[in-house]
Amino acid sequence: MRRIRRIRLSIDLSVFVFCIALLLAAIPGVSDARSGHRYDDHREHGYHGHPMNNRDKIVIAHRGASGYLPEHTLPAYAMAYALGADYIEPDLVMTADKRLICLHDIHLESTTDVEDKFPERAREDGRWYAADFTLAEIATLDATERTNPDGTRVFPGRFQADATGFRIPTFRAVVEMVQSLNRESDRDVGIYPETKDPAFHDAEDLPLEQTLLDTLAEYGYAGRDAKVFVQSFDADNLKEMRFAMGSDLPMVQLIGGSGKVFDDMVTPDGLDDIATYADGIGPDKNRIADTRGALVDDAHRRGLLVHPYTFRADQLPDGTRRLEDELRLYYHRYDVDGLFTDFTDIAVDVIKPDYKARLYP
Ligand code: G3P
Ligand code: CA
Repeated sequence: MRRIRRIRLSIDLSVFVFCIALLLAAIPGVSDARSGHRYDDHREHGYHGHPMNNRDKIVIAHRGASGYLPEHTLPAYAMAYALGADYIEPDLVMTADKRLICLHDIHLESTTDVEDKFPERAREDGRWYAADFTLAEIATLDATERTNPDGTRVFPGRFQADATGFRIPTFRAVVEMVQSLNRESDRDVGIYPETKDPAFHDAEDLPLEQTLLDTLAEYGYAGRDAKVFVQSFDADNLKEMRFAMGSDLPMVQLIGGSGKVFDDMVTPDGLDDIATYADGIGPDKNRIADTRGALVDDAHRRGLLVHPYTFRADQLPDGTRRLEDELRLYYHRYDVDGLFTDFTDIAVDVIKPDYKARLYP
C-alpha cells in the first residue's frame, strides 16, 4: 500500500518544485474575496430548505490547471490551488480493483501511454478501458497532454515537454493534498468530483457512488455546508445518491450542450425536477449564451446555482478576443455563480481583483 502511494506521488521533480513555488505565493483567504455579486441576491434557501446563501462567485479548476499542465495530475491540481481556485475538479472513474482514480475518460489512450505499455490490453473496439486495469498497473502509466486519435495534441499550445513522471492520481491522493494545503495555508478550497459514465460502471459491476460517498465521509465531507459539490451528467446517478443513499451533500446536475435528455432539463418542468434533488446546474456555457442569460434567471428562481463549463483561453468563441472578456460576460452580465475553467489564474484576476500574490503568510 505504501509502495503504491510512493509510486503515485513520484511526479516530475521540476514540475513539483514549480508548483511549490506557486503555492508559496498563494494568498490565504483568497476565497473570502468579495465579488460584489452575492448569491443571496437570488436565493434564500437551497435544496429542501437548507440555507445556501453567502456563497461568493467561485472559480472551479477544470481538471486542475489543465491549461498549463497535463489534466488530472497532482501537479495540475496543485498549480490550480496555488493560482487561487475555490474548487478543484477531479473527474472520477474506477479501476478493476475498485479504486477511484482521477481521469476524464473511461478510456486511457487519449491521456496516457497505455498503448505503449500495455499493447495487448485493448478491447475488441480498440480502446483501453481503465476498468480493465488495477491501480498498480495504472500507476505505471505516464499521464500526458490530451491527444487526438491521430496522435496530434488537442491543445497544441499547452504543456510542451514530452514529460515522463506525471501520474494518474487516486481520488484519495487529491483529497489528501487539498486538505493538507488547506491546513498549511489557512484556506478552505473545496473539491468538485464528477462521476464519469455511471451506467458504464454499473454494467461493469464497478459502481462509483457508494465508494465516492464513503470516501468523502471518511475525509470529513458531510452535510449541507461541506466544501464539496458532487456533479454528474446522469440525473439517475444524482437521485440515487440523494435519495437511495441519503446523501445531503451539495450536488450539481450537469447539462450537455445538445440531446433531448439535456434539452428537457432546461425546460421549466426540467428545472423544477432538478430542484428536487440538486443544488445547482452545470450547463454547457452555450446554453446560457443562446438564451442571453435567461437560463441563469430560470435556475435562480428555482433556487439553483449555475456553474457553466468550460472556459478556455485557447478555445474562445467566435468574435471573442480574450478569455477575460468572456468571463466578465458570464460572471457579471449573465450573473453565473461560478464557472469551470482551464485557466484558474485568469478567472481569479477577473472575479477576485483584490487577489494579491504574496509570500506566506
Ligand atoms: O464537469 C464540468 C465539465 O467538466 C463537464 O465537462 O467533459 O470536461 O467533464 P467535461
Ligand atoms: Ca468534469
